[in-house]
Amino acid sequence: MNEWWRDAVCYQIYPRSYGDSNSDGIGDLRGITAHLSHLAWLGVECIWLSPTFPSPNLDWGYDVADYYDVHPELGTLNDLDALVAEAHGRDIRVVLDLVPNHTSAAHPWFEDARSSLTAEHRDWYVWADPKPNGSAPNNWTSSFMGPAWTFDERTGQYFLHNFLPSQPELNWWNPDVRAEFDRILRFWFDRGIDGFRIDVAHMVIKDRELRDNPPATPSDFLLDQFRGQVPLYNSNRPEVHDVYRNWRSIADSYEPSRMLVGETFVNDLEQLVAYYGKNDELSLAFNIPFLTAPYALNTLRKMVERTEELLPADCCPVWTGSNHDMSRFPTRWAAGDPARARCALVMLLTLRGTVFFYYGDELAMPDTDVPLDRLVDPVSIEYQPVLNRDAARTPMPWNGADGAGFTEPGVEPWLPFGNVSACNVADQRDDPNSPLHLTRGLVALRRELSDLREGAYATYTAVGEVWAWTRGDGVLIAINGSDTEATIADVRGAIRICTNRARDNEPVAGELRLAPNEAAVVELELDH
Ligand code: NOJ
Repeated sequence: MNEWWRDAVCYQIYPRSYGDSNSDGIGDLRGITAHLSHLAWLGVECIWLSPTFPSPNLDWGYDVADYYDVHPELGTLNDLDALVAEAHGRDIRVVLDLVPNHTSAAHPWFEDARSSLTAEHRDWYVWADPKPNGSAPNNWTSSFMGPAWTFDERTGQYFLHNFLPSQPELNWWNPDVRAEFDRILRFWFDRGIDGFRIDVAHMVIKDRELRDNPPATPSDFLLDQFRGQVPLYNSNRPEVHDVYRNWRSIADSYEPSRMLVGETFVNDLEQLVAYYGKNDELSLAFNIPFLTAPYALNTLRKMVERTEELLPADCCPVWTGSNHDMSRFPTRWAAGDPARARCALVMLLTLRGTVFFYYGDELAMPDTDVPLDRLVDPVSIEYQPVLNRDAARTPMPWNGADGAGFTEPGVEPWLPFGNVSACNVADQRDDPNSPLHLTRGLVALRRELSDLREGAYATYTAVGEVWAWTRGDGVLIAINGSDTEATIADVRGAIRICTNRARDNEPVAGELRLAPNEAAVVELELDH
């Protein structure tokens, strides 16, 4: 079977922010097609498009109103077909974002469901009677805070929503819901889509008895403490694995096999690896504990080691630094320090596994300072300044001119541009020392040195914030995250890429010295 996603370089695109082909300030599918040459130049093997489906956009596409079409603001089914054909012509696969946990309240299924207790789609959603005193059926809180239940006046029952009240939860105990999603998968796979990122993959099944969640204690994860409860019964239920075993068999019935990558937002790595099953469930699972960890090499190293230890045979880890829900890594991990951001780029591209870049990561693009009156994400509006998802969703800076190459000069983009003169594709392409060229060089090196793709991970040195590891017999990667010079002993070969590009190709004869916040990829002498 062709498991093409293994060790692949994937790239997440936020469609509203990549390229605006019709000058309305909103990115669209044709805008993405127009920029495929950038992705091919970079060496990207697969793109994941954040939701492209019709949606009232109350959660920017994560509230789907039709699973079989394209949002008119983004284009048409024909535009998507054209994007896929063009991408395939450049050996780039295309993955869509599937939201099986909930629909939009505007989805015809929900409109029908809430019309009466006996409606055809009533049992497609999770409904429950009020308690005798009229309160919600249980104590579950939404991931976006507040109660996870909303009372429906017309039919006298509560419906469940783990996110916004406009995102009612589907009832995955209902075989008709399962059959419908089988159809949705096949519809897109038949159309040539190469896989799906699965939104909140860990949540689709809820406890059948709707039992109360236990209160959080001071030893529980911070987010659970914040919400006041551990999501024991509305998340990560054992029965969820049946759903993915079925989906994997559908994905594997295609040639090449289709990829399923889960947004598995679980707190620990033991729970995470369970989503791979015996390599018969999700093809890949996002490593959220790694993504949300602070940039302390010692902490990240332990997570990498533990992930490697726990992963079932033949499964491939996933490494990510940014996505549309959180601060970008050059801001969050590197605190704006360009040297640290460069080290993070080396780390992401040289660990064993599949890497997912978020658009702009290749430029070490920081968060954008979005003024409060320009926020459009309801969750950010509610929780600013604690949470600001819009800061990581602003338009791609293609150049430093008015419109940033994203849209026509003079057009107001849906979210404001960042400091495009400080960070843009055109300038970085002209600068061989830029993060963009570092990223491209690392991607190319992954192709050139088979150990960087397939070689096993082994920790070589771990002293404080100095971390070195080998990949197979042929490559050593070292990062000095400390404030003083570091020396890695017993290394012979040549630096192939260093974050300080002046050191590329420097021979290493016994000792590898690294300046503070410097990282290097060394091709080892074979007889060593
Ligand atoms: C996770 C998505 O990444 C996020 O953007 C969205 O708000 C929630 N799921 C709800 O769909």
